[in-house]
Amino acid sequence: MPTRRTFLQTTAATTFVAAAPAFVRGQNLNSKLQLAGIGCDGKGWSDINEMAGHDKTHHVAFCDIDLARTAKVHKLQPDAPIFQDYREMLEKLGDKIDGSTVSTPDHMHARITTDLMNMGKHVYCQKPLTHNVSEARQLRKLAKDSGVITRLGNQIHSHSHYRTAAKTIQDGAIGKVKEVRSWCAATGHGKSGYVDRPKSPIAPPETADWDLWVGVAPMRPYGDVKCYHPWGWRDWQDFGNGALGDFGCHIFDPVFTALNINNGPLSFSAGHTGMNDEIWPAQTHVKYTFPGTEYTTSKSIPISWDDGGSLPSTGGSHIPGDVRLPASGSILIGETGTMVIPHVGAMRLYTGKGTSDKEYPVLESLNHYHGWVDGCLSGKQPSDGFEYGGNLTEAVLLGNIAVRYKGEKLNWNEKEMKITNNEEANKWLSREYRDGWKLDS
Ligand SMILES: NC(=O)c1ccc[n+]([C@@H]2O[C@H](COP(=O)([O-])OP(=O)(O)OC[C@H]3O[C@@H](n4cnc5c(N)ncnc54)[C@H](O)[C@@H]3O)[C@@H](O)[C@H]2O)c1
Repeated sequence: MPTRRTFLQTTAATTFVAAAPAFVRGQNLNSKLQLAGIGCDGKGWSDINEMAGHDKTHHVAFCDIDLARTAKVHKLQPDAPIFQDYREMLEKLGDKIDGSTVSTPDHMHARITTDLMNMGKHVYCQKPLTHNVSEARQLRKLAKDSGVITRLGNQIHSHSHYRTAAKTIQDGAIGKVKEVRSWCAATGHGKSGYVDRPKSPIAPPETADWDLWVGVAPMRPYGDVKCYHPWGWRDWQDFGNGALGDFGCHIFDPVFTALNINNGPLSFSAGHTGMNDEIWPAQTHVKYTFPGTEYTTSKSIPISWDDGGSLPSTGGSHIPGDVRLPASGSILIGETGTMVIPHVGAMRLYTGKGTSDKEYPVLESLNHYHGWVDGCLSGKQPSDGFEYGGNLTEAVLLGNIAVRYKGEKLNWNEKEMKITNNEEANKWLSREYRDGWKLDS
């Protein structure tokens, strides 16, 4: 069983960035991973609660900009101090914290995660990893350079259904794959109740620090209880990433794992049902071309995405016409068969004569959260770290750039991180950061 000394030593060997604060705790040896939780309700509560279920963790601090959303974590660990500003938490308790969950709205993931990794802390960050492509690229690099243990919060990655589907594709159940069609029932807006900024915004609740919630984004008034905080932020371009941002990192995940896609797309284009400068479209259709891999028939492979409730065509696949597709999922069309991977359900295999009755081994579910904790304790990076999760996130966020240029095919130079045939579109790879909130400030 690894002790604090061994896991600290393992990490110390590979960490370079301002790593000292993490290792001060070497004086304070015990065998538990000391965690913080940033974002304490919504998905944050489930992240914190899952981590707390590992018998080698101990929460030493919590942070949420809204104190009304901290009752559950206080009950979980009554002696852990609660902060509204994660920067204050890191300043005061940094030497006690080994790692943290980051479960805030998307626009704050990169800044908080950068600060954590710069202090040598391990990070479990919710999906999508970041709000823009440039942030994802920076986090991939920082994770690699710092050697901290990272994991993207797309927990279904470790579920039996996704693991089994990916393995079955790699075992050749449908031959090499020619095309993928992914889709999702969620719409790109509709959660906030708005399609434009509220005309008569009300004051934020006294329990919430609105300035901290807005963080890196341009300041705007609090809306109302549904508009942005909590949950409604997904609809808004400044904070969320629409349905593709919300579900792409889940639904593309078994596809990327199965086909071993570790690179960005070559090109991408999109259509949608209409948008303005504030919110994401209700429905989008995105077409990507990715470089082929050892699991694809060609040097490139088309992968499409639909959201907002429209299902993809099953034309050209082995799926019989009367089959009902799940509400969300992916179809992988291979040389000898087609696989449907429901989100979330057991894979279905079709060979053209109905469902295939050939049996494939079912892989067990693993605990995604505990896999990260075990990685932090052992110093071994689990799958779905920021390199893989960052690549997945970049693909998702590039799709959202295509959405801004309806009908236009954008070509991507991954290495240079540049859209090569539309100079202006490159501005969406990053954002203007509010004063004091730049990633490196
Ligand atoms: N993996 C999944 O299945 C899954 C499911 C839901 C949400 N998510 C992801 O989790 C994240 C949070 O989503 P949610 O639905 O819980 O949102 P939410 O708005 O319901 O909750 C966010 C929580 O973070 C707090 N918060 C906001 N800004 C903060 C900051 N700067 N510092 C500290 N706390 C802050 C809020 O007060 C709130 O308690 C998003 O990135 C989302 O994409 C993932």
